[in-house]
This record gives sequence, structure tokens and C-alpha cells, in this order.
Amino acid sequence: MNRKWFHQFSATALALLIVALSFTSYATPQPPPPSRSSSKVMQIEKDPHTFASPAEVVVKHLDLDLNVDFKKKQIGGKATLQIDNKTNAKQLRLDTRDLTIEKVTLGKSATPTTFRLGDEVKFLGRPLVIDIAYDTREVTVYYHTSPTAAALQWLEPSQTAGKKRPFLFTQSEAILARTWVPCQDSPGVRMTYHARVQVPKDLLAVMSATNPTRVNRRGVYEFDMPQAVPSYLLALAVGDLAFRPLGKRSGVYAEPTVVDKAAYEFADIEKMMAAAEALYGPYRWQRYDVIVLPPSFPFGGMENPRLTFATPTVLAGDRSLVSLVAHELAHSWSGNLVTNATWNDFWLNEGFTNYFENRIMEALNGKNYAEMLAQLAQQELQDEVKAISTEHPEDTRLHLELAGRDPDEGMTDIAYDKGFMFLRMIEATVGREKWDAFLRKYFATFAFQSMTTAHFVEYLRANLIKGDQALEEQLKIDQWIYQPGLPDNLPKIHAVEFDKVKAQLQAWQAGKPAKELQTQGWTTQHWLYFLSQLPASMSKAQMADLDAAFGLSKTGNSEILFAWLMRAIANKYEAAYPALEHFLTSQGRRKFLKPLYTELAKTAEGKAMAKRIYQKARPTYHSVSYLTIDEILK
Ligand code: BES
Ligand code: ZN
Repeated sequence: MNRKWFHQFSATALALLIVALSFTSYATPQPPPPSRSSSKVMQIEKDPHTFASPAEVVVKHLDLDLNVDFKKKQIGGKATLQIDNKTNAKQLRLDTRDLTIEKVTLGKSATPTTFRLGDEVKFLGRPLVIDIAYDTREVTVYYHTSPTAAALQWLEPSQTAGKKRPFLFTQSEAILARTWVPCQDSPGVRMTYHARVQVPKDLLAVMSATNPTRVNRRGVYEFDMPQAVPSYLLALAVGDLAFRPLGKRSGVYAEPTVVDKAAYEFADIEKMMAAAEALYGPYRWQRYDVIVLPPSFPFGGMENPRLTFATPTVLAGDRSLVSLVAHELAHSWSGNLVTNATWNDFWLNEGFTNYFENRIMEALNGKNYAEMLAQLAQQELQDEVKAISTEHPEDTRLHLELAGRDPDEGMTDIAYDKGFMFLRMIEATVGREKWDAFLRKYFATFAFQSMTTAHFVEYLRANLIKGDQALEEQLKIDQWIYQPGLPDNLPKIHAVEFDKVKAQLQAWQAGKPAKELQTQGWTTQHWLYFLSQLPASMSKAQMADLDAAFGLSKTGNSEILFAWLMRAIANKYEAAYPALEHFLTSQGRRKFLKPLYTELAKTAEGKAMAKRIYQKARPTYHSVSYLTIDEILK
């Protein structure tokens, strides 16, 4: 906690004390003594990215009544919050950012109350401080969003597949929910929700909740999320959407021209669900659907409960990139069920999920396939550690220190892949049987709760290590979690499939033309490995030889194209530049954009080209992406 935070905190405490003292002299009914429910409060660690004080008053349920206005690029209406006032607090503090608050009322009687918006704090927005009575159970905030709300992307028809209708989607993780809903925007707070959303008549609205599958005449949709979820999982998408069922519990939404391709790509979802349940226990969210969004969606996927949001760049046409769906599905346990308490504990979400994703892929496609994914992840981890270590070695620790920073900044591949390797190392050390039993119990014990890193470690020691000193020393837990870099018990991974790739690579480097290499039966992962092992510096002729033989610049597989374009930039292979420009202007996934622009920015000509392309592309990117690229090209 830095000084500024502390001042803010102590000023609030003082104000609360004064208010409390002044109230005692009135002849109003006296509040009953505070009812601290102690055991769960223990888990509430101070979240540096919220203004809320959930240990005092906590939101239990949210009821949204919203209108979506595409002309104004505005969501407006009211949010009714059911609260539990544990300490007879006189104020409810919510997070907001770029919201206009029109009025606030208390209770079913809708009695207006006073409120104030505190000063703007960088990244965090402004606290909304609402005066409440000790017996207030319900608070209604009337508000509307700003056209530049960071969570929202309003797409012109030209940015959609159909080109005829506009589209809106939200992205709330990590701390962007507050830009479209006034809430306690901390992953340590969970609430159930209901929503009524009014949209233009021929568009469909879907949320991270129970969903409709077709448009209705009034353009009004109702949603329920009966399981308590943190605010970063609030999500809404509105557009010209069609639905295709995939199985009893699953289906896919997308624009009408995309939905059949999506249904083909994701045909294995029911198998993934069965595999996941066999590993770590029942799926607790009833349905699992996926929505394929327009190409500007800034992430590969987002684990919005009941409805994963996904990039269309995952639609390779051959189901070769669906580990992304396994990943988002795995979050239904790691993340959505057991949730990182603060963004410092992000690895508890993503590291567990990457591990779990790999186990699902192994169950579906076998060990050899899963080992290819694991080895590629480990390679990426080693590159990432190298890249971060020069300037921010502290960001290579699993447990992060993000106070005072934009959480987005510190949330790198470390949480994903170092977390994955840490859990894989434990599995290898104690054996799969013990480890899986431990994880099953972990998910069952902490379902619908939040988890801190310290609490996880304590639980691990109590339930897996159980005082075994030799095991404790072998695992090096503290080194993995609290120290930078990679400990020497990093698991060794050898994907036997990649031996074939290595042999062909050697042949090529010894002078064999690319078109004579034996690449039959190679999967996307073989190609990604091939591309990753190419020499750093290659001649134009070598690049052209590979391109002509394998059609790399023309591939429709986004991961292969990305890896190839990185090589093209590094080696100034100009024949691929039109493909590069097309890729940068036709999709907005940050994971692809950031490295490509960074690579371009390394040379003067590259940077000039990047700036020219970016000028055109920036208006089509989501803020999550363009804020990152702005920094690279400034
Ligand atoms: N929860 C993340 C996306 C995210 C992380 C959004 C941090 C905002 C802040 C999601 O589950 C994810 O990890 N997506 C990955 C894909 C995955 C296969 C690694 C992505 O978008 O690249
Ligand atoms: Zn994830």
C-alpha cells in the first residue's frame, strides 16, 4: 500500500468516525450492533484496485435495467444493488469510471439520497460515495455511460461480417466493469444478477447469464445469473446474431454468415465439457455457449460465465486452434468458481487454467498432442522471462505487486505459463493421482469463493505436503511464487512429435529445398514449432523458398500467419508486407498486434510503415489494444 492510498484510507476512516459520532445524538432508531460474519471476512484481502469497502458493506445482488443506444453510443438506465451492511456503515462506496450519475435512491420507496463522486484516480476512475441508512437494503443508481467507456466497443456495420448492422460488446476484465456498471469492481466480491436490456429491434442481446436464442419483437431481453459472480465477469453483446446448438448443454452464437463455420470449428465442446468434468468435478453453470465476435475483439477469448466471448481468428477451418475454447471452458472452474481475490493473484486464474486446458487437450487428443502445446508454452515462457527480466524482473514472479499500476500492465504471460509450469512440476513430483485428487477437492471446497495466493499456499501445505520436509524442499514453492525467474526444477518437456520437425529443419538448413521437405500430416503445432526454430536471420531467398513451398503468407491460420509475419519483419521479407498490412487492419487481437508493431518499431523504416498502417487501423481497434499500441509507436 503506498502513501496516497493510506491517506485516502485514513481520511475515510476519520470521516466515518465523525459521521458515526454525530448520529448518536439524534433520536432516530439506534442500529443493532454490527454483525461481523468472521470466517469469510478473513479471506478479504485489501484489493488495491477498488474504492469499495466490502468488509463493511457488500453488494450481494445486482439488477440492471438498461437501454442500449447505438446512435449516442451510450448505455443508460438504472442499477439496483442489494446490499449487506455488515458494520452499520453510513455510506456505500462503489467504483465508477467515466459514468454520469443522474440520481441515487434508497429502498423500494425509491427515496432520493445524497451522493458524491470523489476525485479521479488514474486507472481506477472515481469512487461513488452514497449516503445510506443502517437498515438500507437496496440502492438504485440512475446513470449513463460515456461514448468512450473503456469496456465498450461500438462497431460500425463496416466492422462486422455482415456489414449491415452495428455491434456492441463489453470487456470487463480486469477493472473495466466500472465503466459501464457502477459496482464494487473487485474480484473478491461476488453477486448474483438479473438484467433487462432494451436494444434496437432486429438485434439480439446476450450476456454472461441465461440467454435467448432468437430475436423478439420488442427488442427487450431478460437475463438471470443465479450463481454469484465477480464484476469482471459481467458481459453483454448486442448484434445481428444467430444461434446453433452443438449439444445438450452447448451452442454457438455468431453473425449469420459466420455461425456455421463456428459450429463446425467448435463441434468438440461437449467432449471438452465431459473431459473437464471427469478431471475436476461437475460443471456448475448449466449451459456453456460460445459467441464469436467481430474481429476487433481484443482477446483470444474471455471466460464470461455461460457464454465465452471469442475472437474469429480462432476459426482456422480445421479445428486446430480450439485449445482456446478448452482454456475458456477451464475457467469455469479456475477463475469463475474459485476466483483470484485481487489482480495480484492473477496466476491463480490463468496459471491453473493453462494447466487445466492442457489436461483437457490431452484427454481429447492424446499425450503427444498435449506435449506439443506444453513445449510451445514453455518456449514462450522462457522468451517472456528473458524479455521482461531486463527492465522488470519483479514482474516475473507469480504473485504480482500491482498497487498503483494499471493491472493490465503487469498481467503478462508469466501468470499463464509460469503458473502452468509450476502446477505441472507439482504434478510430476507428487504423481497425477494425488495431484488430481487435491485439485478436485480444492475446487469443491472453495467453489464460489475468492482465493489469495497466501491462502492457496497454506491449503497446499495442509492438504498435499502435510509436513513432508523432503517434498517441501523439492517443490520450492516460495521460489516459484515470490521470486523472479525460473527455478531449477522447471519441468523438462520433450514433445516427441517435434523430433520430426527438427529433422526436416536440419535438412533444409543443409540445403534441401523447402518443397522437398516431408511435412505431410503436420498439425498447426508442428508448423508453429518449425517457425519458432528457424534461424533468427534468414536471406530473402530462404524466406521466399519457405513461402513458395508452404504458402505461409497466404495461410488462413492466424497463429501460423502471426509467427510467419514476425519472421518476415525481422528479415525484411517485403513480399509478405501486403499480408502483414491486411492482418494488422483486419483483426484487433492484442496478442498479435503488440509483438508485430513492436518488431516493426525496431527499425526506422519499419516504424514509419507501422505508423502509416496504424493511422488507418487504430479507429477499428478496441481501447485495450490501441492503448497498448499507442505506447509502442509514440
Ligand atoms: N481471462 C483472459 C483474458 C483477459 C486477461 C482479459 C486479462 C483481460 C485481462 C482469457 O481467459 C485469456 O487468457 N485469453 C487468452 C487466450 C488463451 C487461450 C490463453 C487470450 O486472449 O489470448
Ligand atoms: Zn484465461
